[in-house]
Amino acid sequence: MTIAPESRPLLQLAPYARGKRSPVTCRLKCADACSHPAPNQSANEYFKDVASAALTRRAMLGTMAVAAGAVVVGAQVAGAPEAAATGWPGSSGHKGLSFRPIAATPAAVDDVIVPDGYEWNAIIRWGDPIMPGGRAFDVANQTPQQQALQFGYNVDYTDILPFDPTDIEDNAKGRGPGRGTRGLLVVNHEYTNPGIMYPPELDAVTRRAVDRAAHGMSVVEVKRKRTGAPWTYSRISKFNRRFHIGTEFRLDGPAAGSDLVKTVADPTGKRVFGTMNNCSGGTTPWGTVLSGEENFHGFFRTSGTNPRDARYGLRNAAPGTGWDADDPRWDARNPGYENEPNRFGWIVEIDPYDPDATPVKHTAMGRFKHEGANVILSKDNHAVAYMGDDEIFDYVYKFVSKNRMRSGRSDWAREHNKTLLSEGDLYVARFIGDSPASEIDGTGAVPSDGSFDGRGEWVPLVKGGRSMVPGMSVEEVLVYTRVAADAVGATKMDRPEDVEPNPHTGKIYVACTNNSSRGGTPGGRIAPADEPNPRNTNRSGHVVEITEDRGNQLATTFTWNLLIVAGDPSVDGSAYFSGFPADRVSPISCPDNLAFDQEGNLWISTDGQPGSIAKCDGLFKVPLTGRERGHVQQFLSVPAEAETCGPVVDSQDGMVYVAVQHPGENGSFAAQHSYFPDYLQDGEDVPAGAWRGPRPSIVQVYKEGRGGRPGWFDGPGPFPWQRTGSGA
Ligand code: FEO
Ligand code: CA
Ligand code: CA
Repeated sequence: MTIAPESRPLLQLAPYARGKRSPVTCRLKCADACSHPAPNQSANEYFKDVASAALTRRAMLGTMAVAAGAVVVGAQVAGAPEAAATGWPGSSGHKGLSFRPIAATPAAVDDVIVPDGYEWNAIIRWGDPIMPGGRAFDVANQTPQQQALQFGYNVDYTDILPFDPTDIEDNAKGRGPGRGTRGLLVVNHEYTNPGIMYPPELDAVTRRAVDRAAHGMSVVEVKRKRTGAPWTYSRISKFNRRFHIGTEFRLDGPAAGSDLVKTVADPTGKRVFGTMNNCSGGTTPWGTVLSGEENFHGFFRTSGTNPRDARYGLRNAAPGTGWDADDPRWDARNPGYENEPNRFGWIVEIDPYDPDATPVKHTAMGRFKHEGANVILSKDNHAVAYMGDDEIFDYVYKFVSKNRMRSGRSDWAREHNKTLLSEGDLYVARFIGDSPASEIDGTGAVPSDGSFDGRGEWVPLVKGGRSMVPGMSVEEVLVYTRVAADAVGATKMDRPEDVEPNPHTGKIYVACTNNSSRGGTPGGRIAPADEPNPRNTNRSGHVVEITEDRGNQLATTFTWNLLIVAGDPSVDGSAYFSGFPADRVSPISCPDNLAFDQEGNLWISTDGQPGSIAKCDGLFKVPLTGRERGHVQQFLSVPAEAETCGPVVDSQDGMVYVAVQHPGENGSFAAQHSYFPDYLQDGEDVPAGAWRGPRPSIVQVYKEGRGGRPGWFDGPGPFPWQRTGSGA
């Protein structure tokens, strides 16, 4: 018998670090990046807001022009009976998944909350066996060998691909079978939390080796009886695969083989073992999956003397992983390993349909703390990838492939398409506001023209195979991309996470998750508020909407505006929702990952609400057009101390998927803070493969009654963890 939802413990709120995360996440996930000076100390020019000649539109939106700190009175109505799922009185409504928004969930609730009429279960959890020889998870007897045969730890980017790769192209054109009844689940594993994962008696050498096997990515076949029904994972499938620190990758593109990426262990500069810090990602139109190597800096020790290393936060300090005790490559001070950190921080491409394919790291897409990469095709079939560099005061990038995607079902076309990200042009974004700088005072007050908006340009870093940055070679631009972008005056943003094109419109959405240092003390904390980042001490983040000029994905100029400036509008007067009444939205903070449903609505998952607005992180729907534009509606929340990642919204299927990352992250092995998703009672017998402790997992949410037999692999039940929605 599992812990009933009403009996699940409420946790004491952990002390949160400045801005958002718990100290544990800061240390493990990004090596306390916020506690050090921002790596971007560049003096690249600020493009002061340019006053528009036509300031004709006055703010008509009473909730907007309010100074930060003022209080907007008004009860939260999301989830209240009158809050209809598809609109507010007089609206035309938006098609798509129908649900009544849930109320914001207090941060201490250790449960997944879904709307009335829905239920959820976990498709697969940390430690579930996916490879031949993998045993049922046993927390007391973890080994590196077993972990390499099991699903990895902290889950992030997630997708379920149709079983036939050529269906991806058809699906994108609206004529495919959807996700069908067989699929390939692909998931990133970003980092580990040894303090809650392993019994204290596990020796350190083994623990670190298990850690390395728990990073990376997983591919797992899933199946179900019919569309709209939940999936179960296949424990044995020829497609199942793990990528981890021991997996060989091929480095390709212009910087592969250069002296900047060679080591004594790899004199070719083309062969790298391992991928790590795999954060968000993207699925390409040709059926491969991209994964962003993000906070790699925390895994290395360097000499501390190279300013280009410092631009990435690399320091002469012992890495928190302790891996430098196991292999000289994690200490770049060791002779011959000076370049080892340069072999991480790339976009990785894997082919889930070919279990034997060597995964690739694409140097052509630049090296930074990649959140992810999302590809859309231009009208003439160039692959255009949008990317964020997730660090305070860092940048938004675009890559345009030299060659064009080939359609069709031939292997020849597919192999060609897998080379598209190996060669092309790389740009960085510069945003220019159209309101006077004097109207951007850091409070979040909307300027007199009624919106945070303006123009922008994609500034080339590499074009036509040539460096566009004076004094830097192509190889240098690609390996030290941040340095190159500094030199051309890119716009310092508030931690750009997912940068995702809407497949229905081609507009691009940038989740700027937060930046508590915006507008801080000059010197150490750099950059005042500007129109694209209009709040000082920006704890709740915002979402930028970009429209390429002429709707052409290849354009080098664009217009932009802020879709939302996030926050809890009941206490934060700077929260802004494109003019939608702030007292009718769900409170939202720290946007991180983005997705679109089949109707073109935006879905936002959050990372940091416990620290910013004292609510569990969640998943939110936001219509983008008409009177509903900006109507943020919360669909679910994740358990205590978790962030919501990897959303997939299949509105035609009536299904939603999220990755639940770092549940109960502030606990200890002896005193866990979350029991998700097994929710075993203290003292009760532990079924094989289960655990009374938190397990990062992929959750599927589906309409009540569609479930049939829930469970995570094709084996005997019972599967007591299926949960129905408790609504608001
Ligand atoms: Fe891994 Fe930018 O979050
Ligand atoms: Ca403006
Ligand atoms: Ca993220």
